[in-house]
Amino acid sequence: MIDETMKIPQHVAIIMDGNGRWAKAHKVPRQLGHKEGCQTLEQTVEDAARLGIKYLTVYAFSTENWKRSEEEVSALMQLFRFYAKRLLGIAKTNNVRVRMIGERSRFAPDLVEAIGRLERETQQNTGLTFVIAVNYGSRDEMVRAGRRMLADAAEGRLKPEELTEQVFSDYLDTAGMPDPDLLIRTSGEERLSNFLLWQLAYTEFYFTDIYWPDFNKEELEKAIAYYNGRDRRFGGRNEA
Ligand code: FPP
Repeated sequence: MIDETMKIPQHVAIIMDGNGRWAKAHKVPRQLGHKEGCQTLEQTVEDAARLGIKYLTVYAFSTENWKRSEEEVSALMQLFRFYAKRLLGIAKTNNVRVRMIGERSRFAPDLVEAIGRLERETQQNTGLTFVIAVNYGSRDEMVRAGRRMLADAAEGRLKPEELTEQVFSDYLDTAGMPDPDLLIRTSGEERLSNFLLWQLAYTEFYFTDIYWPDFNKEELEKAIAYYNGRDRRFGGRNEA
C-alpha cells in the first residue's frame, strides 16, 4: 500500500481506543483487552520505526482515567510496570528514543524511576522518538506551563512581550518536538478527549472503526495513504 512516492508523516499521534470493547466482543475481561493493546502498541512502535516515522506519540493514560475502577487502574499500572521493562529492550533493538509526557509524580515511585530510566538509557538513540502520554491531559499541560511562565515572569526571566507561540510551545511537555502531521483514533470515536489540543492545530485526523487491539501495519499504512490524499489536496500545513 505504501509506495516510494508517498510522503511519510514525520509525526504520528494515536488515541488508542477500544480495548474495553474489544474485550467485550471477545467475552474476556477488560484487562485482557489492555494486554492485547500493549502488544499492538509494541508492534506499532516497530512498524513506525521501519516506515521511517520520526515521532510516534500515544495516549496511554489520561488525567481522566483515574476515575476508572480501582481494579482497572491498578491493572493498567501493572501493565505499565511490565512494559516499561520490556520497552527498554525494544527501544535498544530498534534505535528508539523514549520520552514521556504528562504529570508523572502521581505514579508510584518505582514507576517514576522506571520511566526515568527508560528515558535516560534511550536518549542517545537516533531513530524513532516514541512519546508516551501518561497521566496526560492537554489542559493540565497548559496550566502547568502557565504556572511556570508566571513563575519565570515573577523572577524577571520572561517579559509579557517576549511570550510568542514558539516560547509558549517551549513550556509544554512536547517542547522541541514538531507538531503531529497525522492523528489516528481507533474504535469509531471522533473526539480529542483532551489530547494535544495546542499541538493538533493543523493536524490531519484519521478515524477508524477498528478497536485498538486489532490495529496493525496495514491499518497504519491506510492512515498514511489517507494523509497523503489530504496533503496533496490542501498542499500541507503551511497553506492550511
Ligand atoms: C482505551 O481503551 C485504552 C486505554 C485507556 C489504555 C490504553 C493503554 C494501552 C494500550 C497500554 C499502553 C501501554 C504502555 C506500556 C504505554 P478503553 O478502555 O477506553 O476502551 P473502551 O472505550 O472500549 O472501553
